Amino acid sequence: MSESGRFITIEGIEGAGKSTCMQLAAELITSHGISLLQTREPGGTPLGEELRDLLLSHRHTGMSEDAELLLMFAARAEHLRRHIEPALAAGQWVLCDRFTDATYAYQGAGRGVSVDRIAVLEQWVQGGRRPDLTILMDLPVALGLERAGKRSDPDRFESENLAFFERVRQGYLDIAAHEPQRVRIVDASRDLAAVQQDIRRLIEDFMREAENG
Ligand code: TMP
Repeated sequence: MSESGRFITIEGIEGAGKSTCMQLAAELITSHGISLLQTREPGGTPLGEELRDLLLSHRHTGMSEDAELLLMFAARAEHLRRHIEPALAAGQWVLCDRFTDATYAYQGAGRGVSVDRIAVLEQWVQGGRRPDLTILMDLPVALGLERAGKRSDPDRFESENLAFFERVRQGYLDIAAHEPQRVRIVDASRDLAAVQQDIRRLIEDFMREAENG
């Protein structure tokens, strides 16, 4: 298809249905014969998964905002160098469950870390690398938390209050408003069939554009 792969990310608050979206997007992409790396953040490498464990566990409740931010970017640096950049360079596509938009939404809007600080780290760790397409699974916070609550014991982020997630959701929506071309919003509050139809359309349109461009 093209000498360089494409980088797609999936974002949203807890309970938005990212896993369903990942699965469907992966099926569509690979059914076109495209080689795909499916991965996640924080995580995706042995070091990244250990950092994920530190970040999500209740052992470090009350971790400082800066430590949290730096650990997210430490995991991301490792992920980019070891997996994401080599895959894209080899022409593979990359589908990642969360990336830097999550940092702007959670550490920025959620925790109150300044956008400028995050932007410095983004530039340092990523250079010019940004996702080509981001699907933002959006839904009201109460509905997301209700869905997430049915799953398992809440981790350190899932234990935050409603107001935190309202800020996170708004943070995501602000990014989408600034970058409507890259960040496509899916209304995840609807029934599964309607949500899947939107995801299918977004991915198929994107693949068509990639083929032509
Ligand atoms: P999840 O991938 O299972 O949804 O959980 C990862 C958690 O980490 C989620 O609560 C969001 C949070 N997170 C951040 O706060 N900042 C980030 O940059 C990333 C990638 C995730």
